[in-house]
Amino acid sequence: MPLEMVRNDIVKMPVDAIVNAANASLLGGGGVDGAIHRAAGPQLMEECRKLQGCATGEAKLTRGYRLPCRYVIHTVGPIWQGGGHGERALLKACYRNSLELAREKGCETVAFPLISTGAYGYPKAQALQVAIEVITRFLLENEMTVYIVVFSKDALELGGKLFGEIKAYIDDVYVEEYLRRPEESLRRRMPGGPRRDEGAAGSSLEAMLNGAEEGFAQMLLRKIDEKGLTDAACYKRANVDRRLFNKIKNNPEYRPGKQTALAFAIALELSLEETKEMLMKAGFALSHSNKADIVVEYCIMNGRYDIMEINQVLFQLDLPPLGY
Ligand code: APR
Repeated sequence: MPLEMVRNDIVKMPVDAIVNAANASLLGGGGVDGAIHRAAGPQLMEECRKLQGCATGEAKLTRGYRLPCRYVIHTVGPIWQGGGHGERALLKACYRNSLELAREKGCETVAFPLISTGAYGYPKAQALQVAIEVITRFLLENEMTVYIVVFSKDALELGGKLFGEIKAYIDDVYVEEYLRRPEESLRRRMPGGPRRDEGAAGSSLEAMLNGAEEGFAQMLLRKIDEKGLTDAACYKRANVDRRLFNKIKNNPEYRPGKQTALAFAIALELSLEETKEMLMKAGFALSHSNKADIVVEYCIMNGRYDIMEINQVLFQLDLPPLGY
């Protein structure tokens, strides 16, 4: 998935580059800075000393040494002073310059902490929006997988109107899963599943296999055309990797996971009925026994088609993100 939020300790991320929330001296500190230097070992400090510091918003690169990453990109975030001293522009520059540096070194995977949101006091929710804005814009033009690493212990209470509305909706409609709902077992009856059903699903399955009925990939490509999108615009909006999209496009039999199918429904801004139809073609159904489904259903019914906004809500609820 091109952009993913994960709960982890950044020093454990097995990526090409991790980003350090450093200070201007580049001579270490607490927080992320301290954790990275402790994990990388003393050679990191030796290399940092040669860099002669770093200005706020700028980024400099070193090797990763004992860390499970090739590089560390050191950037210096702004100290929060209320928001009227260019903090947002400087924070954007941190993400942009770090991504540019990662691209210059040929990195395919990069992990960011939430820069400036610790000792430097930048409000987390605002800082996360800055990160997502800069990273998603970069990913429109570049192939890279970027992780926003939220420290395992951090409570990431983004709050937000959408989050509150969705939590209320889940409370209204969520039902414990006492019996697996008939439509939920549809997936198990698809080819490769334990058995073929002769029921309605079976007959439409038969029609699909005989090519008489449109499959998932055909519906996806038809909807892309109907919406006047390019393939790239669609999979970028869906937060789906180009290679996965090409696999789906080139293999009519390919069945994506449920979160991928839903990601495309959001990217295409499908109605709830169209979404259910597209899901069915991948062998799934929306269920009120599945909280992630309820989140997506609420967003579709309320015209909220920003996949990163949805993924932030899913992240806060510890539910699987849309995309891949
Ligand atoms: N992995 C991921 N995230 C972490 C980790 C970790 N190991 N440790 C801390 N964080 C989170 C914090 O919870 C915070 O949300 O990273 C975010 C950034 O916090 P800081 O590390 O305090 O960085 P920042 O706010 O940019 O302040 C930079 O602090 O450590 C010093 O030398 C550094 O002077 C500089 C200042």
